[in-house]
Amino acid sequence: MRSLIVGNWKMNGLSGALAEAASIDTLAGELPGVEVGLAPPFTLLSPMAAMVHHLSVGGQDCHEASHGAHTGRISAAMLAESGARFVILGHSECRAEGDDDARVRAKVDAALGAGLSVILCVGETARQREAGEAKSAVVGQLAAALPQGEGSAERLTIAYEPVWAIGAGQTPAQDEVEAMHRAIRSSLVAHYGEAGRLVRILYGGSVSASNVEALVANAMVNGVLVGGASLTAESFGAILRSIAGSGRAD
Ligand code: PGA
Repeated sequence: MRSLIVGNWKMNGLSGALAEAASIDTLAGELPGVEVGLAPPFTLLSPMAAMVHHLSVGGQDCHEASHGAHTGRISAAMLAESGARFVILGHSECRAEGDDDARVRAKVDAALGAGLSVILCVGETARQREAGEAKSAVVGQLAAALPQGEGSAERLTIAYEPVWAIGAGQTPAQDEVEAMHRAIRSSLVAHYGEAGRLVRILYGGSVSASNVEALVANAMVNGVLVGGASLTAESFGAILRSIAGSGRAD
């Protein structure tokens, strides 16, 4: 399957940052072997979606309700109308601000219902890892959030993001990444049958141009979710080129 590389801009980017997105889009057009997505802040979704040709634009979160009295929130349909094709859900920064498993699941259903694809983030905390509970934590998050409906596997991507690795400049050892991706794949196949083999599983957490090649060298890793290093065309472009040149693009 084609590697998917998604940039999560988090709460970064004023309109001047659209120039970075334009350069990333141009590069994505030159690297057809990889699939590229960018999740800018809500305020840049519409202009970015109107501008790009080769990458898909997505949201970083949505509310589970379709509309109503939820000050400051954005519905999945609003994202879709703004040009989003996907939404990142269950990111650890949203879980830290109150999203529990049930809410993540409700958001997944809302997003799929609005026609979006979903990148569902799962990952253990440092404490869970130290207690030897990393795998059970991740498998538990999956079991709680995987959607049931027919065709939902086709619009689903999983991002394994160990919470302790995000923004920390450190990544798990390659065999740890492989073991977790294997466990996630098993859960997907148990849940969806053969369709579970086609769901991409990304790695996220301190991905950079210097470590990405080693990360995607593992056939269990179907792409990456990138935070800090996705903010400029220079650093994100280096990651795209590295994956495109690694033999993992097809
Ligand atoms: P990072 O963020 O690449 O800056 O560690 C990844 C993420 O939070 O998705």
